[in-house]
Amino acid sequence: MAEILKVAMPKGRIYKKAAELFRAAGLLIDAEVDETRKLVIGLPELDMEFILAKPVDVPTYVEYGAADIGIVGKDVLMEENRDVYELLDLGIAKCRMSVIGLPNWQPGIQQRVATKYPNVASQYFREQGQQVEVIKLNGSIELAPLIGLADRIVDMVETGQTLKENGLVEMNRIFDITSRLIANRVSYRMKNAQIQSLCDRLQKVIAAEA
Ligand code: PRP
Repeated sequence: MAEILKVAMPKGRIYKKAAELFRAAGLLIDAEVDETRKLVIGLPELDMEFILAKPVDVPTYVEYGAADIGIVGKDVLMEENRDVYELLDLGIAKCRMSVIGLPNWQPGIQQRVATKYPNVASQYFREQGQQVEVIKLNGSIELAPLIGLADRIVDMVETGQTLKENGLVEMNRIFDITSRLIANRVSYRMKNAQIQSLCDRLQKVIAAEA
């Protein structure tokens, strides 16, 4: 009998896209799973267990081996810098990390940048040779330049709708984002056949959709 593969799934907007991809790969996840408030969901017919985690915590569960594999955005991987294998670009939840500001932004003596991604932002501005103060926020980042907390922000842009509705402009793209399949280093060796077979199935769907 195969061992159970523990999969850290991100709650929220990526979950639906990830579940869709799994289903397209022939993994028949019950529709009830999409709606449940349960956090650990056994899928014995697939030899899997889903762990529904906050997206930013997925790499942590995987690094410590509480989950064998996980699905997470490249944005979180870059920010969290966890010791995990990145196995596959799933090509879902496409967006980008950008520097954003008001259209009339001018570099001042004191520059403040608000973001949910302080490591990504600090590294970017260091590489650009710009001295900025990075302020960590937890959401609605676009507020910061509107009400004078910061001059610019570093945030995700998907459709650009949030920027448009708040009169902000994208100034620089830092990197493109998609969701990735990641694995715990030990699980990757110990459950290699199961993980590899899942990768192969997912890869076929990704290639067909590309
Ligand atoms: C994200 C991001 C932007 C928005 C971008 O926020 O931080 O605000 O989505 O999407 P768009 O380009 O399609 O408008 P999210 O909805 O995750 O909420 P948050 O503000 O609480 O981080």
